[in-house]
Amino acid sequence: MTTQAIPVELGARRYDVHVGANLLAGLGAFARQALDLGGDAPPRRAVVLADATVAPLYAQSVVASLLEADFATRQLTVPAGEPNKTLTTYASLMDGLLRLTPPIDRRTLIVALGGGVTSDIAGFVAATALRGLDWLVCPTTLLAAVDASVGGKTAVDHPAGKNLVGAFHQPRGVLIDVNTFATLPHPQFVDGLAECVKHAVIRDRALLEFMEDHTAAIIQRDEETLVELVARNVAIKAEIVAGDEREAGDRALLNFGHTIGHAVETLVGYERIGHGAAVSLGMTAACELARSRGLLEREACQRVTKLLATLGLPTKFDDLENVPRPTTTDIWNVMQRDKKTQAGQVRMILPVMLGAAAIFDDITPDNVARAVEVL
Ligand code: NAD
Ligand code: GLY
Repeated sequence: MTTQAIPVELGARRYDVHVGANLLAGLGAFARQALDLGGDAPPRRAVVLADATVAPLYAQSVVASLLEADFATRQLTVPAGEPNKTLTTYASLMDGLLRLTPPIDRRTLIVALGGGVTSDIAGFVAATALRGLDWLVCPTTLLAAVDASVGGKTAVDHPAGKNLVGAFHQPRGVLIDVNTFATLPHPQFVDGLAECVKHAVIRDRALLEFMEDHTAAIIQRDEETLVELVARNVAIKAEIVAGDEREAGDRALLNFGHTIGHAVETLVGYERIGHGAAVSLGMTAACELARSRGLLEREACQRVTKLLATLGLPTKFDDLENVPRPTTTDIWNVMQRDKKTQAGQVRMILPVMLGAAAIFDDITPDNVARAVEVL
């Protein structure tokens, strides 16, 4: 099966994302290519920061491949899960990194191996250790592959909110081996599918059609279908990031479904609802809001909700077990406190047709109340 290479065009900081099957064993060669290391380049060091659950499954192959490519390689473990995406974990990884012998230097390569939690922390370590090290990402969740690994946003959470401490620091390359998704638990796989629907609705009607036509193969995690799905999604994320690296404009479109989704997650509790499920409800409500404003045809709205449901994502609170329905007032109040809200004005991304969306800064409590009624 051919590996797809998608460029992220950021001038001097451009890099490639390779998507394919059985790629992990080639990570060392990919690293040399991404860092422009010729055959006579002096040996470099690499430190793999691997998610604790992922490490026993895939780190050995990654480390062996780096060693073979002449990287003196060490491995540190990142504790798994969002509750560990903290300054404490960051500090302990930084301690581990700075205590390695021989000491790391400016030419040391950081490799993130895991989902979005690991790439966000490892990227922040790379951004700040010795004022900035090169790093590569090997995402092992669908969500990290299609979203978190591309675009250079790195962060840890703070008690005051998610992702509040971080930096923009682009990786030198991203290697996505879809075989790693074979071991991904179903809820985490579905989280990634929600982001795929998001990309399709805001940017690419053909991707929406592809997902409609290949739903069964996607759910069965057919290798070839996943390579195509991931490559198409990475291309969308890459194009948006290349046009607006620092989220001054169109990158905000990637928040489609996330404004109401985040409010639902906050009110219901992160332990009771998956991120993908919350975003799916958020996208359903945003489509309804767009419909009620005359921006989106009813049929288009129904196509999105049908695709979400077919992929196993909820489009109503009743689709979820033991999840209380928050009040519309509570949802509105949380939306107003969102870190992306400016001067108290709630911002939402609404589709204006299938494959195109726009930013709206005039959202009212009544708009939200009526949209949330469909959930
Ligand atoms: P995650 O990294 O917590 O991974 C989910 C779970 O799956 C973890 O328990 C992990 O141990 C396990 N896992 C990972 N890969 C596995 C595999 N192949 N087999 C078996 N288990 C595996 O969560 P996620 O959904 O990948 O990422 C969510 C995070 O990404 C959030 O913190 C979010 O803020 C961040 N994010 C960042 C960006 C960005 O642009 N930087 C974009 C979107 C999301
Ligand atoms: N996931 C949102 C972004 O990368 O901008």
